[in-house]
Amino acid sequence: MANYDVIIIGSGPGGYVCAIRCAQLGLKTACVEGRETLGGTCLNVGCIPSKALLHASHMLHEAEHNFASMGLKGKAPSVDWKAMLGYKDNVIGQNTKGIEFLFKKNKVDWIKGWASIPAAGQVQVGAEVHTAKNIIIASGSESASLPGVEVDEKVVVTSTGALELGKVPKKMVVIGAGVIGLELGSVYSRLGAEVTVIEYLDAITPGMDAEVQKTMQRILKRQGLKFVMGAAVQKTEATKTKAKVTYKLRKDDSEHVLDADVVLVATGRRPYTDGLGLEALGIETSPRGQIQVGDDWQTNIQGVYAIGDCIDGPMLAHKAEDEGMAAAEQVAGKHGHVNYGVIPGVIYTHPEVANVGKTEDKLKEAGHAYKVGKFSFMGNGRAKANFAADGFVKILADKETDRILGAHIIGPAAGDLIHEICVAMEFGASAEDLALTCHAHPTYSEAIREAALACGDGPIHS
Ligand code: NAI
Repeated sequence: MANYDVIIIGSGPGGYVCAIRCAQLGLKTACVEGRETLGGTCLNVGCIPSKALLHASHMLHEAEHNFASMGLKGKAPSVDWKAMLGYKDNVIGQNTKGIEFLFKKNKVDWIKGWASIPAAGQVQVGAEVHTAKNIIIASGSESASLPGVEVDEKVVVTSTGALELGKVPKKMVVIGAGVIGLELGSVYSRLGAEVTVIEYLDAITPGMDAEVQKTMQRILKRQGLKFVMGAAVQKTEATKTKAKVTYKLRKDDSEHVLDADVVLVATGRRPYTDGLGLEALGIETSPRGQIQVGDDWQTNIQGVYAIGDCIDGPMLAHKAEDEGMAAAEQVAGKHGHVNYGVIPGVIYTHPEVANVGKTEDKLKEAGHAYKVGKFSFMGNGRAKANFAADGFVKILADKETDRILGAHIIGPAAGDLIHEICVAMEFGASAEDLALTCHAHPTYSEAIREAALACGDGPIHS
């Protein structure tokens, strides 16, 4: 007799959501987590703490730049860094304790420690071997290393160290203009650091809509971030308090050096599967270390599943959550499903950036005839009132059928607005369906309707 119907390894958004769903479906469930608190990278050292710092630094930015224009006079607040970190830690604590409460409520056992899988149906934690009919690996990811760059999490840091710096640096170099680089780069820039982002490619945020990339870079430059594009970082040399970053420009191979108080390495993440014993068990992985799974998230070993950052696909908490719910349903004999065509991506800078579905580049590549409906937040009354009129909504729809194929937003609350389009896409809606839906005035979401109108007879306010 197995102790459990299912044991989940890892309690990040993939793992904990999966565990709760398994328990809700009547399965005897345990979740193994070696960290002192539940919630994985996302809650402890990722999404949640970075959003706390983004929020606090945005408030400061508003006070410094926009309060006076609204008739709010007085000195802008100064930064008490220790207190700001305290606020962030408090937010983390509330969230991780929340998961602990949900585990208790749903009767999910938390097995504390680091797991390995000695054989199918067995999970070893310390000296103890637990048995389970099904095992779901949700072990997540870790920052990828960069040759020549040694991370000490004090001067040369990953996103983890960047959330715990001793003080706000005067000069910060960020390696990589991806999501992490831009979010944390914005935080420190708003808090007063001089931030230079070094990016290998010629555009920021790889894979995103080209127009959004350009607009985003322009806005971030205006906010004070500096960019060195088309540059490959060769090495960092750090002392206890400073670092030198050497990079080569791709166009002429010339070598340059930048000084920094802190270097943030944000050049991607890779699956974290250390110590699980995948090789001995014979679980197939890709050359990039991703666990290979079938449509039902089962690996090549029966009864062993994998979800989230340790398998293929975008490394996003919500993608992992969806896979967690779907895998739970599979294990319970139901038919879990994830629509990989409708997974939103959000960058929580200010303004926010959000996207779902296809980009124009991808549609062109596929020879798919499409039309574009675009609307600037300059024509949105609410955005103007809130000093948030930078950016636009762009909807891509099939040229013949008008079915929505994708959307790209840069602007206020883009990360929330995008879900209207996600729901529309789930229902196979046309741009006209959106355009015919009454949108409350004055809201940012009117910009979505206007972009939808722009796919047809044209928007009203531009
Ligand atoms: P990323 O893959 O988004 O961006 C890495 C960037 O580094 C790329 O633009 C790449 O061209 C550049 N790069 C690589 N090697 C370089 C070199 N030697 N010199 C200069 N530039 C170099 O990776 P990032 O930002 O580290 O994020 C990791 C993962 O975490 C991503 O999959 C991301 O989706 C996820 N994440 C998502 C968040 C969100 O949804 N808001 C927030 C934070 C992370």
